Amino acid sequence: MFEPSVYKARRAALIQKLAAMGIHDGVALFPGNRESPMNYADNTYRFRQDSSFLYYFGLAEPGMAAAIDLASEKSVLFADDISLDDMVWTGPKASVREQADSAGIDAAEPLSTLSGFCAAKRMLYLPPYRMDIQAQLAELTGVALGAVPGGASMELIRAVIAMREIKEDREIERIERAVDCSIDMHLAVITTAKPGMSEAQLMALAYREALTGGGMPSFPPIATTRGSVLHNHGYGNTLTDGGLFLLDAGAETDDGYSGDLTSTFPIGRRYNDRQRAVYQIVLDAGRAASQAIAPGVPYRQAHFAAARVIAQGLKGLGLMKGDMEAAVADGAHALFFPHGVGHQMGLDVHDLEALGEIHVGYPEGEHKSAQFGLKSLRMAKPVRAGMVLTVEPGIYFIEGLIDIWKREGKFTQYINYAELESWRALGGFRNEEDWLVSQSGARRLGKPFDKSIAAMEGYRGA
Ligand code: GLY
Ligand code: MN
Ligand code: MN
Repeated sequence: MFEPSVYKARRAALIQKLAAMGIHDGVALFPGNRESPMNYADNTYRFRQDSSFLYYFGLAEPGMAAAIDLASEKSVLFADDISLDDMVWTGPKASVREQADSAGIDAAEPLSTLSGFCAAKRMLYLPPYRMDIQAQLAELTGVALGAVPGGASMELIRAVIAMREIKEDREIERIERAVDCSIDMHLAVITTAKPGMSEAQLMALAYREALTGGGMPSFPPIATTRGSVLHNHGYGNTLTDGGLFLLDAGAETDDGYSGDLTSTFPIGRRYNDRQRAVYQIVLDAGRAASQAIAPGVPYRQAHFAAARVIAQGLKGLGLMKGDMEAAVADGAHALFFPHGVGHQMGLDVHDLEALGEIHVGYPEGEHKSAQFGLKSLRMAKPVRAGMVLTVEPGIYFIEGLIDIWKREGKFTQYINYAELESWRALGGFRNEEDWLVSQSGARRLGKPFDKSIAAMEGYRGA
């Protein structure tokens, strides 16, 4: 947690932003997250505070709510002190008043007074992503349960995105700490993996590094011998020599800042010739994308910079053919690179996505493309100094997709299906890094982490 003045200043800036949009009164309400039961009430998922609550109020206790009265500019924390019975189980906790002070919050009130506070006031809230919070908002606003998400305040969404997406220096320091820990997760896995081990063993190693760093993984890691399944969350396979391992994993700091990295390495000591060739294209695509990052430049351009390198590289291998500019414009490369080049990252690993992907990643009024591949581009809008973005191109041999496109005769002018047959079992490759937009370009976050072929084979003991 930062000092109280940080949260006070953020709330004051939010009030200003809303005033600039013509909103001078009402209540900006931030429900904190609650405990979430796994299979019975006392056996809960790990508690994770809502990220906007963390940003404006800093507190990571379950069952709180906070409000900013826009007319008086006063903030109120609604929460209950623990009972003596609770204390036996949880140990002593700071009082609600003390917690409010630690975040510079003007008043602390019991949770039972929240509905009275909100009554007959205009309520501004962010879209809920948990049903219990949606139900709480329905009760507080009197809006029907199903209508609650649609009643979220566009002005509040825009104001919160505008603030959270430009990282303060103190936040960059935390994110960089998360990235450093994420690098430790990757190096532990890359240097330990051996034929005969299970994916679960390597998953456990990644967890160990994240926990040792003081936090948790920032999302359920992907630790897989089947990298062509983009978000593979099974961990039951055994590593076999000659195959590839894909690790997509990041750490979260104890106060909620994320890292998000992907590595693809040989389960033996060296990549074979085809693996090496494809991996190098992915590295080159990442370099092209990161070099395209500069303030004012739409992130879509970084995506296309990566896509062009991938298409040209695959043409060089005989897997694509024809005019690669046209192939990329038509979306043919998406057979191999079906996702976007990256997303914003901060207090959420996909930062701010709960507020609406379109509002976070696209200029107001602009729609997402419906084209396969491009429709998965989360971030397309011009970037600004202080934004943190992932750069994560990949090449995948997705057998089911190849079969369908081949059967449909899709893009036969660009794709060499005959040549592709002998490559289809190669698997999936992704390289993911975290970048900060600077005044003139971008800087990779985190300590040195060489992903070159020589370095990766070096980690593997070659
Ligand atoms: N970890 C999921 C992603 O890279 O976006
Ligand atoms: Mn990732
Ligand atoms: Mn990512």
